[in-house]
Amino acid sequence: MSVIYHKFALPATGFIIMAAFHTKDISGSSFLVTGGAGFIGSHITEYLLKNGAGRVRVLDNLATGFQKNIDLFAGYSNFEFLQGDIRDFETCKKACEGIDYVTHQAALGSVPRSVKDPITSNEVNVSGFINMITAAKDAGVKTFVYASSSSVYGDEPNLPKVEARVGNPLSPYAVTKKTNELYADVFSKLYGMKIVGLRYFNVFGPRQDPDGPYAAVIPLFVSGIINQTPVYINGDGEQTRDFTFVDNAVQANIRGMLTDNADAFGKAYNVAVGENFSVNLLYSAIRDMLGIDHEATYREERAGDIRNSLADISLARTLLGYEPTQRFMDGLKQTVAFFKEMYS
Ligand SMILES: NC(=O)c1ccc[n+]([C@@H]2O[C@H](COP(=O)([O-])OP(=O)(O)OC[C@H]3O[C@@H](n4cnc5c(N)ncnc54)[C@H](O)[C@@H]3O)[C@@H](O)[C@H]2O)c1
Repeated sequence: MSVIYHKFALPATGFIIMAAFHTKDISGSSFLVTGGAGFIGSHITEYLLKNGAGRVRVLDNLATGFQKNIDLFAGYSNFEFLQGDIRDFETCKKACEGIDYVTHQAALGSVPRSVKDPITSNEVNVSGFINMITAAKDAGVKTFVYASSSSVYGDEPNLPKVEARVGNPLSPYAVTKKTNELYADVFSKLYGMKIVGLRYFNVFGPRQDPDGPYAAVIPLFVSGIINQTPVYINGDGEQTRDFTFVDNAVQANIRGMLTDNADAFGKAYNVAVGENFSVNLLYSAIRDMLGIDHEATYREERAGDIRNSLADISLARTLLGYEPTQRFMDGLKQTVAFFKEMYS
C-alpha cells in the first residue's frame, strides 16, 4: 500500500493562543492525530498547533476527510501530513515513530453507512483500530486516546446515559465502537497502556461535511436552508440529542492525552454538554439565526434511531477535569456563521 509523506517547511503563521485546555509545556512533545483531515481531527490538530505542541503529525487517507483541511496547517513547520490507510499496519507503525501522544479519530462514521456496508466499516473501524493501538503500544507512546461513540448505549433505555450502563448495539457501527472499547480495555490491562476512550454525543461545528448521503443533521439543515434545497426531519422531530460543539470534543481529547491522573486511564467517557434539545427546536433555531424562511418536510422515522439522548458527564468532570465551555446555542451560532460565510 502506498504512503505519501508530506512535510511542510514554511514558517508558522497566525500563531494565536486560544483558551488552552492544558497547562503542561508541550513544546517538546510530538502528537499523532489520525483522521486529522476530517471534522473533529482537524480541530484537534488546529488546537495543538495553536497551543504550543512541539510536533503534530496527521495520518489520514482522505476517505471522508479533505485536503483543504490539511492545507489549513501548511504554514506550520512542525506539522506533517502522512497520507495513508490505517488498514495497513506498516503505515500505522510509521505514523507512530517518534510520537509521544496519539489521538485516534480515523474511522468511517455514520450508522446508515455501516448498515449499507458493514464489511468496510468493520475493516476500518475494527481492523484499523487494532492496527493503530498495536502500533502505538509497540512505539511506547505515553497515552492513546480514541474516539468511541454514544452509539454504544444502544437499547439502554435510561437517561441520562452513564458510562457503566450500556445496552446492546443497534447497528454495525455501534458494534465497531463497542469492539474498540473491548480492545482498549484488554490492551490497558494486558500491556499497561494508558488509554482513554471518548464517547462523543452528536458533535457539530465548522468544517463538518454538509454533503453526501451520510451528512450529519446540523450541516444538512444549515446548508438546506441557505441553499433553499429540501430539508427532511425524520419522525415527528421531537427526538432529542445532546448536541456537542466541537471545542468540547477537542478539550476532552487534550485532557485525555495530557492527564496525570492515573485513575483516568482504562476508561471510556461521555463527551457531551449534559443538555438535550429536540430536532424541531434545532431546526427553528437555525432558521432564526439565518433569518431565512424555509419549511422542513417530515418523513418516516429512521430505523434504529433512538428517541432521546442525554449524557451524564460527571465521570469526565471528575477524572479528566472536563468542563464544556460551549453550550448548544453558543456552538450553533458559530457553526451557522461558518456555513453562511462558506456559501456566500
Ligand atoms: N461527529 C460525531 O458526531 C461523532 C459522534 C460519535 C463518534 N464519532 C467518531 O469520531 C471520529 C471522528 O469523526 P468525524 O465526525 O470527525 O468524522 P470525519 O469523517 O470527518 O473524520 C474521519 C477521518 O478519518 C479518515 N479516515 C477514514 N478511513 C480511514 C482510513 N482507512 N485510514 C486513514 N484515515 C481514514 C477520514 O478521511 C476522515 O478524515 C470517528 O472515529 C467517528 O466515528 C463522531
